[in-house]
Amino acid sequence: MMNANLMEKIVSLAKRRGFIFPGSEIYGGLAGTYDYGPLGVLLQHNIKEIWWQSFIDSRDDMYSLDAAILMNPKAWEASGHVTGFADPTADGKMFNTMFKTSVGAGEEANITYFRPETAGGIFLNFKNVVDSMHPRLPFGIGQIGKAFRNEIAPRDFIFRLRELKQMEVEYFVRPNEWGKAFEEWRNLMHQYARTIGLPKDSIHELEIGDGERAHYSKRTIDFEFDFPFGRRELWGLAYRGDFDLSAHASASSVDLSYLDEETGERFIPHVIEPSLGVDRTILAILVSAYREDEMNGEARTYLALAPKVAPIKAMVSPLLKNKPELVAKAKEIRKELQKIHPHIAWDDNGNIGKRYRRQDEIGTPFCITIDFDTLGPSNSSGQANLKDTITLRHRDTGVQERLTVPEVISRIRSAFA
Ligand code: GAP
Repeated sequence: MMNANLMEKIVSLAKRRGFIFPGSEIYGGLAGTYDYGPLGVLLQHNIKEIWWQSFIDSRDDMYSLDAAILMNPKAWEASGHVTGFADPTADGKMFNTMFKTSVGAGEEANITYFRPETAGGIFLNFKNVVDSMHPRLPFGIGQIGKAFRNEIAPRDFIFRLRELKQMEVEYFVRPNEWGKAFEEWRNLMHQYARTIGLPKDSIHELEIGDGERAHYSKRTIDFEFDFPFGRRELWGLAYRGDFDLSAHASASSVDLSYLDEETGERFIPHVIEPSLGVDRTILAILVSAYREDEMNGEARTYLALAPKVAPIKAMVSPLLKNKPELVAKAKEIRKELQKIHPHIAWDDNGNIGKRYRRQDEIGTPFCITIDFDTLGPSNSSGQANLKDTITLRHRDTGVQERLTVPEVISRIRSAFA
């Protein structure tokens, strides 16, 4: 059952613990904008990194790109966005949701737009990638970047933003091979959902019917997620045919066809587009991970984040901060763990239970405590058989294990492999 007030709890945790802050907060905010704080940046980095790995780096047929956000306005006329990228306002008028801006000074200034999708920059660089990298079909170009939409009603925290981030692939295929590629990316999107820890039963495919798809799409499947405010679009997978390359070729008078060296045929490739919003992905992860339970008779809040996604991988703690031997040993162990991953926290404040709770709340999968037993019997009360062992505590269960340092290192190494 969905937790009552789940959204308020997530918004509050995100701000309190340094994940996500309202944009321009000290001036009363700016609707549809949010700022990612220290832990939000780490979480976001992990999501992008896993996307990069599974959608680009692990494949031989993918190329990366980082195109400019500002583009020649003719591109948005050709793509159909100047006429078609509009939503109805409350009084029934169509409102174009592209952000306009002017480039240059005085009379020389040109009106252009902040890109409403990162895809635009990919289509404009199709020829550059073909000419410089000589890829063979099928191949794809992917990029992560910001997109801007002057949404009429931004809402639901980072669900509907005016400044957002997308992870997009345009995968170019021979026209008769689009179906196979569509299935391949569809499966990869489900796989990615699982890798970042979204439960299988929280994702639902919705086939978008004729007349309801974006103007460029011949087939679209929305990947919907069960958000606390309802089932809504998380990601999209579209078959854009040759709409974009043909439109840009004709508007720019530049040949954007591809020469198939095997058959000697020249044609405009078709395209499959898996499009994933970074911010919506983060919201889905927070919704999936938020938990409340009771531990040792006290209410507890924790984020059951997948270890790969968690911003902080482990926390190292000396039982007491005023015992130099404990502190020195704990520092040594932290240094060792930082060879596996840089984000290993240090906490020697307050009692150990409080330290654990602070880490639980930000989703840190492991806590490691160094106590007198670690130092052995020569140091105060340590027990001989526990010398050089440390406590490894697991976030979700609170279970603590007594392990040797090499055992802990190997556990942590395998959790992030
Ligand atoms: N290039 C295809 C495209 O942009 P879209 O369905 O309009 O398609 C793709 O957007 C994804 O971008 C969405 O599935 C969602 O994850 C994200 N997205 C779109 N608009 C958004 C907004 N206003 N705020 C946050 N994320 C948004």
